[in-house]
Amino acid sequence: MPRIASRLLAAASLAVAAGAATAQDAQINVICSVQAEWCNMIQTVYARTTGVKVNMSLKGSGEALAQLIAERANPKTDVWFGGTGDPHLQAAEQGLTLEYKSPSLPQLHAWAQQQAQQSGYRTVGIYSGPLGFGYNPELLAKKKLPVPRSWADLLKPEYKNEIQVANPASSGTAYTMVATLVQLMGEDKAFEYMKALHRNIQTYTRSGTGPIKAVARGEASVSISFVHDGPGEKLQGFPVETITPGEGTGAEIGSMSIIKGARNLEAARKFYDWALTASAQEMGAAARQFQLPSNKSAKVDPNVPDFKKIRFINYDYAKYGASAERRRLIAKWEKEVNSLPR
Ligand code: G6P
Repeated sequence: MPRIASRLLAAASLAVAAGAATAQDAQINVICSVQAEWCNMIQTVYARTTGVKVNMSLKGSGEALAQLIAERANPKTDVWFGGTGDPHLQAAEQGLTLEYKSPSLPQLHAWAQQQAQQSGYRTVGIYSGPLGFGYNPELLAKKKLPVPRSWADLLKPEYKNEIQVANPASSGTAYTMVATLVQLMGEDKAFEYMKALHRNIQTYTRSGTGPIKAVARGEASVSISFVHDGPGEKLQGFPVETITPGEGTGAEIGSMSIIKGARNLEAARKFYDWALTASAQEMGAAARQFQLPSNKSAKVDPNVPDFKKIRFINYDYAKYGASAERRRLIAKWEKEVNSLPR
């Protein structure tokens, strides 16, 4: 195990020493909507420190919600960890998740507690991160293309076939883009914008991190991505930079929820409490994922984007996390944007 992981393991052991697992709660089923390295680290560290086996299933935010809806009558999941907050709010509204007030709540930033309050404590914020663009400076230079600095720039004809973004039905990242544009421009203009952008899109990926990985590997020049997904690629040696658009942008409140009907409820609550501790949250950066942790005492890695330097819209999480609104916007995007020829 790398040194950083063993240090985290020691810290995490202290945090969970109080609660040893009982036989019936010796395992827990988790849907994990962050990147694999973080999910795997949680699985290893949590099992070693508590003896609780974590069965992990990796799913994008929209796909995770679809699975929870499908297994509603016979839930196989105990905890949904990570992924953008809007589908967690939708799950709360649809009664798919359970109310729980963790004793760790007061340790969290106001935005994370607010996510809990507005869902009737059926979800909670675990991290936050801004939406922006990823770009490959080497590829842009080779193609003599400028760095895009605004949403408007992405419509320029020279970016035809150069841009990747995910599909908002499967990806919370892409839904955050749709909701951000609607709030920034008004719905009619935002859909006109997305139709024009469609002409420049090379491919819509399933997962939210697909586009920046493609940019890092030179398969596309520009992506619409969470900017905290950039440094992890760069640390692996890929040429990738990030920027946020001048007109303003949105941010996610990555969330966590306990599933209604969870078979390992006690274990689910213990895992949830642990996941809100500073030491557990610092595992994100150890796994090269650089969202802002929701625990106020968690160390903020220098790679975490500086929120003070970014122009944000006042993202209405309650409105865009509401079931009817989220479903409507995704269906409209499928019908009016994705169906158009390119
Ligand atoms: C990445 C980001 C997370 C985000 C997640 C959403 O893992 O680092 O901050 O919550 O993507 O994934 P999705 O595939 O739903 O867009």
